[in-house]
Amino acid sequence: MANNGGSEFVIRNIKQDEVEETFDMIARLGWNLTKEKFKMLCEKKPNNFYVAVTQDGEVAATLSCTPTFADEYILGNVIVKETMQKRGLGRRIVEDILEMVPRKIVHLVSLPAVNKFYLNLGFKLSDPQQGHIISHIVTDVQLLDNKVKTIKGVADDISIAPLDESSLEDLIQFDHRLRGYDNSLFVSTLAVCSRLLVARNKSQNNKIVGYVAAFLKKDEIILDGLNAESDDVAALLFREILNQFPGTVKVKLQMFDSNQFLLQFGGEATTERYNRFSLGGNPTIVPEATAYNVSDCDFTH
Ligand SMILES: CC(C)(COP(=O)(O)OP(=O)(O)OC[C@H]1O[C@@H](n2cnc3c(N)ncnc32)[C@H](O)[C@@H]1OP(=O)(O)O)[C@@H](O)C(=O)NCCC(=O)NCCS
Repeated sequence: MANNGGSEFVIRNIKQDEVEETFDMIARLGWNLTKEKFKMLCEKKPNNFYVAVTQDGEVAATLSCTPTFADEYILGNVIVKETMQKRGLGRRIVEDILEMVPRKIVHLVSLPAVNKFYLNLGFKLSDPQQGHIISHIVTDVQLLDNKVKTIKGVADDISIAPLDESSLEDLIQFDHRLRGYDNSLFVSTLAVCSRLLVARNKSQNNKIVGYVAAFLKKDEIILDGLNAESDDVAALLFREILNQFPGTVKVKLQMFDSNQFLLQFGGEATTERYNRFSLGGNPTIVPEATAYNVSDCDFTH
């Protein structure tokens, strides 16, 4: 195939019969996105997902472009099939999607090894830098239990339970308030594809004060979002999610620099910094104090 910047490919929204093939490309990288979640996201919002297909209909590349705040988008899952890399297709699929959202702010969190790819495309390090710290920890359950004991008064007033279907809308609104933009698509997939626990305050009419989502990958708990109104609620949710996966104490955390509260409950195995890059301006700042574990960690190991 000629190195012609990928003009032999058609770039368009994903079709449902391409979801499996596209997911195989993602799965080969060993990232955390599960097939169930990817399928559901593509089914609910196919317009957020793009593929580059060859004339024979083979999926050669993919990415997602998800709206957040007004006039802002997050790119994710940028992948070119291994056999088709280094021929300009990565540049082409990103640039084509950028053309579809002109004069908008587009940003993403990059894998450390790929920073230069985005810099070559004109992206700049975002300011302020809302990148992620990704840590794999071995939780010290005793430490966590000691913490829970010291906040017994708070704990007695908090109930933690799986989300019941009738509360999904309340959770979406809670997440919207904490995150700053509507992410109902993501929250509703968590309800189906992850273990999802919700914390409520008994003395405040059972209002939602936090949630945690997680799934198991091999022998590690992948936290897929932990948002809470206080450190105490975050600690209680963290303790409770460990109970959901008995025998597993390894946890993957994805945090903002400014809120690494959960890190105190484990010994760090590895930590890596992932930077945020943006094009067209700096993205709106996401509130960090209530985000104890950032949720969009699908594309990392
Ligand atoms: C990163 C990736 C999408 C690039 O796709 P590609 O088709 O090989 O890239 P292109 O051929 O279009 O290269 C575009 C530019 O980026 C550079 N580049 C490509 N891959 C790079 C990499 N891994 N690291 C640094 N620079 C890279 C190229 O040198 C080229 O520069 P130029 O246009 O100034 O000559 C592809 O390597 C891939 O799918 N990697 C595995 C998944 C991944 O890591 N995705 C990123 C998630 S954040």
